[in-house]
Amino acid sequence: MRPWTNKSLGLGLLGVLLIVSGTTLYLSWPAIFHHILEKEIPLTPTAKAFEIWNDTSSLPPMYFKIYFFNWTNPQQLRTPGKKPNLEQVGPYVFREIRQKANVVFHPENHTVSYFNRRWWYFKPELSNGSLTDRITQLNAVAISAKHKVRYWDGALQTTLSLMLSASDVHTTKMVDQLLFKGYEDALIELGRMAAELGEDVPPFDKFGWFYMRNGSTMFDGHLNMDTGALNIGDFGTLRKWNDKDTTRFFKSPCNVVEGSAGDFWPPYRQKDEILLFSGELCRPLTFEYSQTVDYMGIEGYRYDLSEKTLGNSTKRRYPHDQAKYFEPTTTTEDFFEAEHSAEVTNAPEEDPDVVNIGNCFCNGKCTPAGLMNVSACRYGAPVFVSLPHFNRADPSLRDHVIGLNPDEEHDFFITLEPTTGIPLKVSAKLQINMLLEPSKTVSLFRSVPNVYFPVMWFALEVDAPDEFVDGLKKLLSLPNVIAYAGVVMILAGSLMVLTIAVLYLLNKQRANSVTTDKNVRQEILAPADKSELIYMDKSNGGDDMHVRNDRKLYPNSTESINADLQSKLQNQK
Ligand SMILES: *[C@@H]1O[C@H](CO)[C@@H](O)[C@H](O)[C@H]1NC(C)=O
Ligand SMILES: *[C@@H]1O[C@H](CO)[C@@H](O)[C@H](O)[C@H]1NC(C)=O
Ligand SMILES: *[C@@H]1O[C@H](CO)[C@@H](O)[C@H](O)[C@H]1NC(C)=O
Ligand SMILES: *[C@@H]1O[C@H](CO)[C@@H](O)[C@H](O)[C@H]1NC(C)=O
Ligand SMILES: *[C@@H]1O[C@H](CO)[C@@H](O)[C@H](O)[C@H]1NC(C)=O
Ligand SMILES: *[C@@H]1O[C@H](CO)[C@@H](O)[C@H](O)[C@H]1NC(C)=O
Repeated sequence: MRPWTNKSLGLGLLGVLLIVSGTTLYLSWPAIFHHILEKEIPLTPTAKAFEIWNDTSSLPPMYFKIYFFNWTNPQQLRTPGKKPNLEQVGPYVFREIRQKANVVFHPENHTVSYFNRRWWYFKPELSNGSLTDRITQLNAVAISAKHKVRYWDGALQTTLSLMLSASDVHTTKMVDQLLFKGYEDALIELGRMAAELGEDVPPFDKFGWFYMRNGSTMFDGHLNMDTGALNIGDFGTLRKWNDKDTTRFFKSPCNVVEGSAGDFWPPYRQKDEILLFSGELCRPLTFEYSQTVDYMGIEGYRYDLSEKTLGNSTKRRYPHDQAKYFEPTTTTEDFFEAEHSAEVTNAPEEDPDVVNIGNCFCNGKCTPAGLMNVSACRYGAPVFVSLPHFNRADPSLRDHVIGLNPDEEHDFFITLEPTTGIPLKVSAKLQINMLLEPSKTVSLFRSVPNVYFPVMWFALEVDAPDEFVDGLKKLLSLPNVIAYAGVVMILAGSLMVLTIAVLYLLNKQRANSVTTDKNVRQEILAPADKSELIYMDKSNGGDDMHVRNDRKLYPNSTESINADLQSKLQNQK
């Protein structure tokens, strides 16, 4: 045998193997990557993400910043031509730690149930002001009480009117009273009595915007979230809220519990929209894709809270098999004709699956665009949530007050890494407003203007930590590394096969020139030519006439070749 053929055959085979596996690798890396994600992403008690999800205290600190609007001219409220003058004060900065409580995994339906718990620690060194600063605001307790009794009979309203004559439309309190400590008010006691009559009133002895919230698990509800174990497309989706898949705060279909529970988003994000369920607002919020941004070298999709949530005439198409389960009065034209007819501005759609969700979130009287009515979720208090400074809202809202300057600093957005769905940056910003309305029966509110009155706003900004971003970069470069490896394998394989092909051709040429030379001796005597294939005489030798015709290529060992050749040479002689 000629040695080059053996080696080159192996090399050629290796080349082909490289090409095949390189191509397979190159073509199947999305599937491989998907497999890695499927293994890594679902939340389990042993997953890497679990520790952080369960308790954020090991992460770099997150800061919750609160700004108040200090109302500097309350005495001019009823003066014609004067608008409330608001001065933004703050920020009052708190370090926020998020924890989960009563975490129970349910592998049988691939969900996890838990409560949210948040702790706040004041950071005076980061704040612009102290907790003893005095702030003048709308008297939230009085307004809530007045709002509560507006449909009661005249006598009761007159009683309240008398009680309120001691109070004012505004109140001046210290920052910590307004936030976590709370303050007492005679009306709260009254409210607690009303609660015994079956009224929906807050179960608290004091009022404060965050009263009793520090370290409490009772404000976000009981959450049941998909772990993504069955389908990573459902990772982090809220399945049930307080054990139900609908809420009692909005009308169908706006009462559906849907969207992310707030911590995780599934992989493979598109440039469309994402949903987030807010336990604080008792409703899902839609964030619309706005732009692609660079976050420390990683591409991120930014989703903004915008028209689809803030508009009051947002139409939405529901999958037919979902829409057919909506309450009949709220899915089709009936919905528009029933109790909402007065508010509807747009003609009902022909298509019963298309619902004006603005209408079901109005919960009755619609608001100008830019406000979310969360009264139902706040014991009936006229609380409306917007973006800070009425950003992206109807401009008429800020014309009723002085001191608001919305800009892009007041956006609420979520930036996700599109392949993995990991949040790179979350900038949660919301403003709390109360509706100040004139009342005929409650004298305190006689002849006050009709204003959506800004009270405060807060921001929680969370950035993915540096070392986390580094790890993510590595993970994201994995598909490229694999693809490159595939390409390199294909190239190397092709090079091998090509070399072998060239060598083979060259050799064949030489072999041809050798065999066309009728002189066998020349082949045998050529010292470089160590052929292992020889012409063997199958006709038992002797007969010179037949020798050539019967010569065929047969492999043989070197010794036998030599012996054979010797005998042949002797024969020829
Ligand atoms: C709020 O306004 C009142 C009245 O104008 C003022 O006395 C008070 O100092 C202000 N508070 C802050 C924190 O600036
Ligand atoms: C601190 O608050 C005052 C008003 O209370 C404001 O004029 C000033 O710009 C604030 N400083 C910072 C750094 O926010
Ligand atoms: C919240 O509770 C913790 C622990 O009791 C306490 O250290 C912290 O000061 C509280 N924060 C506020 C804002 O009251
Ligand atoms: C999953 O199972 C648990 C325990 O039975 C239950 O509490 C939860 O509501 C279930 N979740 C869903 C989405 O069915
Ligand atoms: C807000 O919601 C409440 C009840 O949830 C409803 O009574 C009211 O009409 C809605 N709209 C306004 C502008 O208050
Ligand atoms: C919806 O918002 C627009 C823009 O703010 C406003 O003009 C309109 O009156 C609102 N619709 C209702 C029904 O309040």
